[in-house]
Amino acid sequence: MFQKPPKKSVGITLKTPAEIDKMRVAGRLAADVLDMIGPYVQEGVTTEELDRICHDYMVNVQQVIPAPLNYRGFPKSICTSVNHVICHGIPGPKMLKKGDIINIDITVIKDGYHGDTSRMFAVGTPPIAAQRVSRIAYECLCIGIGVVQPGRRLGDIGYAIQKHAESQHCSVVREYCGHGIGREFHEDPQVLHYGKPGDGLELVPGLTFTIEPMINAGKRHVKLLPDGWTVVTKDHSPSAQWEHTLLVTETGCEILTLPPGRTL
Ligand code: MF3
Ligand code: CO
Ligand code: CO
Repeated sequence: MFQKPPKKSVGITLKTPAEIDKMRVAGRLAADVLDMIGPYVQEGVTTEELDRICHDYMVNVQQVIPAPLNYRGFPKSICTSVNHVICHGIPGPKMLKKGDIINIDITVIKDGYHGDTSRMFAVGTPPIAAQRVSRIAYECLCIGIGVVQPGRRLGDIGYAIQKHAESQHCSVVREYCGHGIGREFHEDPQVLHYGKPGDGLELVPGLTFTIEPMINAGKRHVKLLPDGWTVVTKDHSPSAQWEHTLLVTETGCEILTLPPGRTL
């Protein structure tokens, strides 16, 4: 998620079958939190109430560690990014209102392994521009996932996402990206959501990483708020993001954060 490399570079780790089993469990648990919280996303709820409900569910019911809490000083257990907030929104006392769109980003640690996933939710019926960017961001994620198979390269993923977003007159945020994931929250490689076909790392079985395109209805430029976390669109246009954790398999990919029986 961060463009700058982590202080501790963990490199690219290919997961063993035993590690993959643990990644499946972590991915499923992260998805379960999003399923659980969906019905609470309503007019009048505050984002810190959503944080509290998720925190308690993760810690008490799932017995997982909420990875964001104290991660590089992040103060809460989930990220809540409303309307023109692109990512890393900090849950707080502000109430959701009719017409809001919100990204909820969940990362759990179970048995030493991370699962990372986010979705958009709507309160009532948002303005068309907000609905549209939410849908296009989802399409970008699906298109990116569709590229993942051994022999393809990271640049192929970025290119496919960028092409779709820009063809729909939306823009791709450049400053934040997907990432390798496993024992560490953010491992190598960085997974850019823009790029050129044929560029970058070749995908191989056992690689686990996220795709999490941040798509703006307006221009791509970002601004970091003084809290040091909240990233907003410079032009205040609505922004949307969806995220899955993926495993490259021999024939394609497995979506570790897709609930069983659910399709994309
Ligand atoms: N979950 C985010 C990602 O997809 C990272 C959040 S870092 C936090 O990479 F500290 F803001 F929680
Ligand atoms: Co992520
Ligand atoms: Co995330």
